[in-house]
Amino acid sequence: MKVLFMGDVVGKPGLLAVRTLLPRLIGRHSVDLVIANAENSEGGAGISPESAEQLLASEVNLLTSGNHFWTKKQILPWVEENPHLLLRPANYPKGAPGRGHTVIQTPDGRKLGVINLEGRVFMKPLDNPFALAPELVAELRKQTNCILVDMHCEATSEKNAMGAHLDGKVSAVVGTHTHVQTADERILPGGTAFITDVGMCGPLDSVIGIRKELSVERFLTLRHNQYEVAKNLVYLQGVVIDINEQTGKARSIERVREQLPGT
Ligand code: FE2
Repeated sequence: MKVLFMGDVVGKPGLLAVRTLLPRLIGRHSVDLVIANAENSEGGAGISPESAEQLLASEVNLLTSGNHFWTKKQILPWVEENPHLLLRPANYPKGAPGRGHTVIQTPDGRKLGVINLEGRVFMKPLDNPFALAPELVAELRKQTNCILVDMHCEATSEKNAMGAHLDGKVSAVVGTHTHVQTADERILPGGTAFITDVGMCGPLDSVIGIRKELSVERFLTLRHNQYEVAKNLVYLQGVVIDINEQTGKARSIERVREQLPGT
């Protein structure tokens, strides 16, 4: 089974990159299932029903998220109706809207379990994702050997620790949130595919997707200005992971980095 996981989709440029570039990528890599972290797909922070539906209409099978899951309030009634199309981090408090894990399947019925987690270093004090992950893995294992974890967090150490924690127990641990694609993709000793950060689908001529001038001004003056999504050097970034469906172990992980023409 081949899974394409795309990094944080940032605003309209990210949506356009996915819509334009994804069909060709699916063909070239013989992709069976597509997942995208969508938490910045509406205006660079948060998700709207429109941005979620646009991604799902662009052949994306499942959306994951992170700390911006409910930045746009209009997503909450939508996710109540579509809990299996958009995940929030599973280690949010009990009673939070949405859910943090699900199972998706290919048209011919091959299943992939997906878990979304959020880290705690330099982030909100959520429940411990390291304690929760094995419980969710055990639950998903009843349905499939193939499991992917989106570890949404700031610190490279926390993402690498989650990779080590789940090595041999899941097919892949992929990092999101920092929007900067790392060059450390590899298969861990137990057979789990890992990358510290898959990158983003959005404008690279920016500060993690946001107009450079606005970000620099914020660092200079600490003024809380309104962020705007940048426009140039738009890329689709992600990884293609090949999973052995019998064992649930990864055969390969390959970085994807493709520029939207004209940007
Ligand atoms: Fe994030």
